[in-house]
Amino acid sequence: MDSLLSSRGKIQSVPESYILPPETRPSDLVTPLLKTIPVIDLETRGHRRNELIQHIIKASQEHGFFQLTNHGVSEELMNDVLTMGAEFFNLAEKDKARYFQARYYSETSPSPEVCRLKTSMEFADEKVHFWRDNFRHHCHPLEDYIQLWPENPPRYREVVGRFSAEVRRLSLHLLNLICEGLGLEQGYFEERLSHRQVFSINHYPPCPDPTSVLGLPKHADPYLITLLNQGHLPGLQVLKDGEWLGVEPLPNAFVVNINHMLQVISNGKLKSADHRVVTNSKAARTTVVSFILPSSDCVIEPAKSLVNEHNPALYRTFKFGDFLKTYDLHTRQGKDPLVDYMIQS
Ligand code: OGA
Ligand code: NI
Repeated sequence: MDSLLSSRGKIQSVPESYILPPETRPSDLVTPLLKTIPVIDLETRGHRRNELIQHIIKASQEHGFFQLTNHGVSEELMNDVLTMGAEFFNLAEKDKARYFQARYYSETSPSPEVCRLKTSMEFADEKVHFWRDNFRHHCHPLEDYIQLWPENPPRYREVVGRFSAEVRRLSLHLLNLICEGLGLEQGYFEERLSHRQVFSINHYPPCPDPTSVLGLPKHADPYLITLLNQGHLPGLQVLKDGEWLGVEPLPNAFVVNINHMLQVISNGKLKSADHRVVTNSKAARTTVVSFILPSSDCVIEPAKSLVNEHNPALYRTFKFGDFLKTYDLHTRQGKDPLVDYMIQS
């Protein structure tokens, strides 16, 4: 358990094993926090459906990221779920220990165990560790999983249950708008492609030297779509045209990003952008994330209606579970995990 950063108390200096080689250090920490990714107001834009859809598609094409305001999830619930996340990582070590087991959770095979606590030392063979603890579990269908979630903090199940259900509804709404924007048949993302949902809490303790470590290394999310509640502290950066752009925390906003499977299904039209997390020396940052994902045996391919002789398929057909098996390793090696599935023209 001592590998959990959140159980170590105040850390005075960065252990050697967390220090990145110079070329991957976040030396550009001073990037100004401009409104760097598009902000979409669901309430205002929602009155003009076509305009809203065009805005979402454009943001998903150009940035792969956007912030969503006035999305209908209450300010109270947005704050409560962040509090639950922070409280979970503040629990005594013994209360967290039971979730800290190998093979406690699996994305690639159905498993009755649903919760997984990951320390900053995530992979046995990783050269450097990252400044993050993580706790995640399945959350859909709720009734299958909720009784396996933590009983502490006492309101965890109630708050996370409500939040997951609302975020799922919002995610499916966004997917339906994307579906319409891409010109796919109605309901394309419903059912098998959005069969599952994972709820994840990232905890980044204050770091004595944020310039020599990363909270999360460069990656793009492997699933369908991500909705992130990043709270009030900055840290997330998105790669755009070779530059890292800081994502400004906006009150009560979700950060939405396109994942690898949506890039494939849209035949490369929508972009799953690389992003990373930098740390800060002042305060712990806790973020909560919902991922929508297919089942492992789900067949993924560019949507047939987007492929024709002028727009040949850019990716071959594969099973989602097979992609997941190599995703972590390839991402760690700095290799695009979709490269093996690309059709060379
Ligand atoms: C993730 C992620 C960003 C953040 O969990 O995949 O990119 O700011 N999180 O915590
Ligand atoms: Ni991510």
